[in-house]
Amino acid sequence: MDALTRRKWDRAAGAFDFINGLGAERRWWPVKHEFFSAMRGKVLFVAVGTGLDIGHFPPGLEIVGIDISDKMLEKARPRVEAYAGAMTLRHLDVHDLDYPAGTFDQVFTSCTFCSVTDPVRGLEAVRRVLKPAGELHMFEHTGSRYFPFNALLHLMNPIARLTGPEINRDTVDNVRRAGFDLVEVRHAFLDVVKTIHAVAPSPRVADPLHPEQIPLQLDEPLLVAPSDGL
Ligand SMILES: C[S@@+](CC[C@H](N)C(=O)[O-])C[C@H]1O[C@@H](n2cnc3c(N)ncnc32)[C@H](O)[C@@H]1O
Repeated sequence: MDALTRRKWDRAAGAFDFINGLGAERRWWPVKHEFFSAMRGKVLFVAVGTGLDIGHFPPGLEIVGIDISDKMLEKARPRVEAYAGAMTLRHLDVHDLDYPAGTFDQVFTSCTFCSVTDPVRGLEAVRRVLKPAGELHMFEHTGSRYFPFNALLHLMNPIARLTGPEINRDTVDNVRRAGFDLVEVRHAFLDVVKTIHAVAPSPRVADPLHPEQIPLQLDEPLLVAPSDGL
C-alpha cells in the first residue's frame, strides 16, 4: 500500500465534497448519469472517494467500492448505506487487488487513473479480475493533444499532483498498454474529459494474467474495430 498517496487523499477528503460537489458534479451530471447507466452484473468500482457518484448507480446491483483512503471511505459510508442494492466498501489499493481472476463482469472508474501511482500496473490488476470479455468503463480527465492545452496541463501538473491528481496523463494509451481492447472513447470536454469503454480480451493467446484459461483458436477477430476518435 502506497502510504504517501493514501495520506494525500486522506488530507483531501475533508474538503472534497465542497470542492467537487458543487461545480464539477453539477456540470458532469448528465454525462455521468448516462455513463453509470451501463452498470450490469457484478461490478467493481475503483476509487469510490466520498461516494459522490453513488447517486447515479442503477438500483439492485452487486457493487464493491474500493479506495486507498480511510477518510474517503468514512465519508462514502452513508451514501453506500442509502444505495438500493448490495454495495460493500473495502480499503484496498487497486495495485493489490486480491480477488480471484475473472471475478467481475465490469469495472467502473471515475477520476481514478489520474490518481493511481502506477496506472498501467493498476489497469493490469483490473484486467486480471475481470471475466474474459468483461468491460472496463472509465470517466476520466487526461492530458490533451492540442496546443495550448497540452502545454498548460504539463506546466500545471507538478503543482496539481502535490495535493490531488495528475492532469496530463494519456489514460487511453495506458488502457491499451495494460492489454485491453478499446471499444469507444467519447470526449465530454475538448479531448480532456472523456469516457473510455474497453474490454478484457478473451483468451485467444496464452495470457500470463489468466494462466488458468485455455486459449481459443479463432481465425477471425473477436472484436469490431474501435470507433472514431481513438
Ligand atoms: C480524484 S479522487 C476521485 C474520487 C471519486 N471517484 C470521485 O470521482 O468522486 C481519486 C480517488 O482515488 C483514490 N486512490 C488513489 N490511488 C488509489 C489506489 N492506488 N487504489 C485505490 N484508490 C486510490 C483516492 O483515495 C481518491 O479517493
